[in-house]
Amino acid sequence: MRFTKLKGTRDIIYDEAAKKLHLENEFRRIATGYGFSEIITPILEYTELFERSTGATTDIVQKEMYAFSDKGGRSITLRPEGTPGVVRAILENKIKFPCRLFYIGPMFRYERPQKGRLREFYQLGVEVLGEANPKVDLELIELGFELFSELGIKSSLEINSVGCPKCRPFYKERLLDFFKGKNKNLCVDCRIRLERNPLRVFDCKNESCQNILETAPKIKDFLCSDCQTHFAEVIKGLKKLEDVSLNINDRLVRGIDYYTKTAYEFVSKELGAQNSLGGGGRYDDLVEEFGGPKTPATGFALGEERILLLMRNTEGGGRNLVFIAFLDESAQRSAESLIKVLRKNGIPSLMSYSKEKLTSQLKKADQLHSRWTIIIGEDELKKGVYTLRDMESGEQKLVAEQELVSYIKQLK
Ligand code: HAM
Repeated sequence: MRFTKLKGTRDIIYDEAAKKLHLENEFRRIATGYGFSEIITPILEYTELFERSTGATTDIVQKEMYAFSDKGGRSITLRPEGTPGVVRAILENKIKFPCRLFYIGPMFRYERPQKGRLREFYQLGVEVLGEANPKVDLELIELGFELFSELGIKSSLEINSVGCPKCRPFYKERLLDFFKGKNKNLCVDCRIRLERNPLRVFDCKNESCQNILETAPKIKDFLCSDCQTHFAEVIKGLKKLEDVSLNINDRLVRGIDYYTKTAYEFVSKELGAQNSLGGGGRYDDLVEEFGGPKTPATGFALGEERILLLMRNTEGGGRNLVFIAFLDESAQRSAESLIKVLRKNGIPSLMSYSKEKLTSQLKKADQLHSRWTIIIGEDELKKGVYTLRDMESGEQKLVAEQELVSYIKQLK
């Protein structure tokens, strides 16, 4: 019986795993530099957590959640996003505000898989609770751009203000007025969205719905003065940043319900349909919704797989494993002591323990993804040298015994 992986999941092996680790390490390094500490929350949460935050009317909750009853009959969900669990954990652990936390981990959404869209995917996220200042929104956007620039990735920012509970109800009302008489041209999903939350129509990819939206009223004309000032401050700050390509997109609502004021996406032209490298914004009402004190909050999450698609394959250092091949018994003894020296010096290394021909040892070295092979034979032992073979180019070089460790170290 041969098993296959689930649709929309992937196995991450060798160079791809090294690239992923490099991305996570860079994110960790930069986020730490901005004063963030890591939080690790469970992958499993109660379903209601997402219904009450991500939003009962969103596609994520309606169609995409891996929700099931556990053996105790409780409704459990594999988290589709990180924010609700982080906010829950902050309140449950009585963490003091303001706080800055980052997370790295897998998320699950039952979506139609395609390039850059999986059912199990990883997010890199940051959340700041207890800060209302627009400068904090700006700081987070800078953090995102800093990561992209470190990785050599070009990205631009789509940004909007989605208002707040003071001004958004007026906008919703106007939207409903606007759609009156246009219902029959909307897709089935959007007709339902209209009843539950008219803003969700903006999430629809259907062409006829998009055409209708061309002339729809814009939220920017309904923002209260507080939301207007906040947005103006964020935009003013963004315009001062060097190398940031910015598009104020008054149709951007994001597919999640908790946003207030600032909402944005980092996008890339090189990704095709799934062009959003990450997204985020303010969610000033969520902490209160979860039973906490009124607490402003802001954050974003980036999609690892989409970033990995744009990263150079050499990122992550590539292969750096050393294989030791030997030709006879005394060379084997020398190999067995050499491997201990290399490992003590932090050089990843391995060898074959059975006597094999040099060609099969080299084949094994290749299969095990070794970057270099050290060959030890009678000649080498006599001269006090090692033959070092570059497994990519096939070039060989003699290195003196006592220089080997420092020589390999400077190769990396
Ligand atoms: P989101 O826009 O739903 O926001 O997801 C953020 C990013 O996760 C997306 O821009 C995308 O790069 C990646 N992503 C989403 N779905 C998939 C998928 N099926 N396959 C691959 N990548 C995917 C959130 O999740 C919010 N929690 C962000 C946030 C944090 N807002 C405030 N704080």
